[in-house]
Amino acid sequence: MNNKNITPTVNPDEIFRIMQEDASKATIQTGWTQGVARSGSEKDSSSRSLKLHCTKCNIDTAGIYKRATDTERRCPRCDSLLMYCPACRHAVSATEKFSILSCDRCLTDYVTNMTVEYLASRDRSSREIILSGIRATGTLHLGIYLGAIRQFIEYELRDNLCMYFIADWHTLTTCHDPRKVSLNTLAVAMDYMAAGLNPERSIIYAQSSVPETAELALCLSMIQSKNKLEDLPTVKDVVRNSETMSMGHLQYPVLMAADILGPKATLVPVGSDQIPNVELARDLADKFNRQFGQTFTVPRIGSRTIKIPGFKGEKMSESRTESSISLQDRLEDISDKYTRFGITDTGRRTRNDPGNPNNCVSVYPVFKVLREDKPDALRVIENECLSGTRGCKECKLELAREIDDLIAPFRERRIKLANQQKYVEEILHYGGMKAREIVRCTLEEVRENMGIVSF
Ligand code: TRP
Repeated sequence: MNNKNITPTVNPDEIFRIMQEDASKATIQTGWTQGVARSGSEKDSSSRSLKLHCTKCNIDTAGIYKRATDTERRCPRCDSLLMYCPACRHAVSATEKFSILSCDRCLTDYVTNMTVEYLASRDRSSREIILSGIRATGTLHLGIYLGAIRQFIEYELRDNLCMYFIADWHTLTTCHDPRKVSLNTLAVAMDYMAAGLNPERSIIYAQSSVPETAELALCLSMIQSKNKLEDLPTVKDVVRNSETMSMGHLQYPVLMAADILGPKATLVPVGSDQIPNVELARDLADKFNRQFGQTFTVPRIGSRTIKIPGFKGEKMSESRTESSISLQDRLEDISDKYTRFGITDTGRRTRNDPGNPNNCVSVYPVFKVLREDKPDALRVIENECLSGTRGCKECKLELAREIDDLIAPFRERRIKLANQQKYVEEILHYGGMKAREIVRCTLEEVRENMGIVSF
């Protein structure tokens, strides 16, 4: 944690080699030391395995490393973690946090288990690598929760490798207030976790924690035509809405492609507005593979089917706070917003007029999503609306209560997280390390395939 500048390197073979080499010279330090256990012939050095000795509880057959990738790394008695520190070159106890081991002696952080496992398994087709990002433009709203985060959590629970990041570089295309960018990045991380993403299961990180992505975007930009970028709807929107467009805006989809292709994502869940950008990433992967040899995985697009309308029927958006329900809103705020701004069936004049739920702009469509699994409860609303026995105001207040029931636990967790900023920073730090290690491997392939030599 204290050594953010140290580039983590994962090379289990190298660690194992040094472990074997130094085994006989091992000095007792905190936690662990190791001796050499001989199995089979003494001359056959490849069959040697390392016997680890816990200096805390003085067991000398605490665990045996047969291969450097063996997961056996705890003392059976005191359960303390053991590792061989490639930095201070001693066997020590280590503390594990979010799948990262920190050497207790020199405090160096190492990316281990999860990343190594990922690197070994990423060619296995059974496991999806899910990746998605959110720009740090404000607090998250109900639309993002129901349309995206809920799905992110499902992926996470199904044991995929999930990478969810906060696109702070992309935020710079529209926001040049440094305080806002940094605070919003943390706020989105807090919102993510308050809504249920689990940093022990998913890699949660800031886009900028992986500088390799920027280099990858540079490489990809060499094979991306400028005309095609200018034709993308997301880029066209910018041109339409402002006289000048920055290079950052034009490069936006290429950077997004680097976000996706760097970890070799297999599935990218996005909202419909982002689909052309993910298509561009797919085209880039394909083009690169044909031109420079097989390097990237062409990801599938996980298009969001759930759309939550804002009060006037437009898409709920964090940039239009007056038209969205923030995940931090309280019951009073939600009720107030819906009663004041929520448009329902405009053809209905008085409370006792029969209404038509299908013409309801902002209330019934949300009920439809919330009561997806409760068709009977949904039918009650439909029937009461159709028969004119339910007024729009009552309906809005009932919706507000239902939304509040859903998001109240998030709100509470969010308040706790806001008071634990250091903890959230730590999650982003470790998440960034893991993501970085993953992208670094791809970048090495890209460099080599393009002829860029590391001198
Ligand atoms: N452009 C996306 C948005 O505004 C955020 C984003 C950046 C993203 N990089 C990504 C989404 C990669 C998916 C994959 O919503």
